[in-house]
Amino acid sequence: MAISESSILDALRPIVDPDFHKSIVDLGFVKNVRIESGDVSFDIELTTPACPVKAEFERAARERVEALEGVGAVKVRMTSQTRTSAPASPEKVLPGVRNTIAVASGKGGVGKSTTAINLALCLRASGARVGVLDADVYGPSLPLLTGVHERPTAHDRRIHPLEAYGLELMSMGFFVTEESPVIWRGPMVHGLIKQFLTDVEWGELDYLVIDLPPGTGDAALTLTQMAPLSGAVIVTTSNDLSIVDARKGLRMFEKVEVPVLGVIENMSYFTPPELPDKKYYIFGQGGGKRIADELGVDFLGEVPIDPRVVEGGDKGRPIVVHAPDSHTAAAFRRLSDIVVRKLAVLSARRSMVADANITWVQG
Ligand SMILES: Nc1ncnc2c1ncn2[C@@H]1O[C@H](COP(=O)(O)OP(=O)(O)OP(=O)(O)O)[C@@H](O)[C@H]1O
Ligand SMILES: [Mg+2]
Repeated sequence: MAISESSILDALRPIVDPDFHKSIVDLGFVKNVRIESGDVSFDIELTTPACPVKAEFERAARERVEALEGVGAVKVRMTSQTRTSAPASPEKVLPGVRNTIAVASGKGGVGKSTTAINLALCLRASGARVGVLDADVYGPSLPLLTGVHERPTAHDRRIHPLEAYGLELMSMGFFVTEESPVIWRGPMVHGLIKQFLTDVEWGELDYLVIDLPPGTGDAALTLTQMAPLSGAVIVTTSNDLSIVDARKGLRMFEKVEVPVLGVIENMSYFTPPELPDKKYYIFGQGGGKRIADELGVDFLGEVPIDPRVVEGGDKGRPIVVHAPDSHTAAAFRRLSDIVVRKLAVLSARRSMVADANITWVQG
């Protein structure tokens, strides 16, 4: 029997996207099927280059087509067209950015900046174009976290982001000089944030991770109101009992209709190097989950306490670069996968490309 496009599509139809609960064929992911004297090639176009099941799809697709009678060599090309989950912005704020993720927290020092940079690096590692905006104008930490201390340049009134580890970076920390004011007044903060969003040449990005200042002050409010945000994650620690602050944060996002993707609990437990299977919940267990439940949002996962976070942080080497094989790096990769999947579902809902019946998948 001669091999045909429809027999190839039939072979691929059982491959189901775990988030959309539909066949990759029916979702329209399979493209450019070519058959040449038994050799078959086709594209699988994903909704993001950071798709966590990319390798799995590729393997399954190849095996299924190779198993067909009369098929010779099989070539699967994995491509992507990142869908946007960011609301359209009338003022042309961040026009080339498909997904914007705000990393927020009720209070300071819980590891918000650490989470932001490591999530960004995980997204980058999976092939996406990623930027990080350090919107914490009061306590910028991106220069320290990345080891970048240059001053961005401007051409034609456009500010060019700096770069490290393949990420585009922008931070107030790149501009601070001895003469910079110690205290920023509300209107100045507003102006700065606006510049970061409208005057920076971010270019085409799949994801922009935004490190918000803690709480719900001027800068956080300005940013949530001005930036077209796709979703927010809230970082807490287990002993952060401040449900009041967390709730304020949630309300801030609700007001601007930004979905809160969930809560990440940082510095959850400690695993001594000599006891790799042990988890010591030094600050008590389950605080992040409790906050998530109280807020009615998903709990996304735990990140362990790891001295290498501090060590690498001081050297401009975030943990996923500094100790990629650590449990901590793995925790960030898991979280980044969850965030990618949640945003993909949101964007599908937004554009309704995958028509009806998309069910939300719990992280
Ligand atoms: N999982 C972790 N294990 C060990 N140390 C950590 C971990 N996460 C963060 N830290 C350390 O805790 C400190 C605070 O982290 P970070 O700066 O990311 O928090 P933040 O919430 O952004 O704080 P701020 O409110 O000052 O902006 C840093 O010294 C960082 O290295
Ligand atoms: Mg910070």
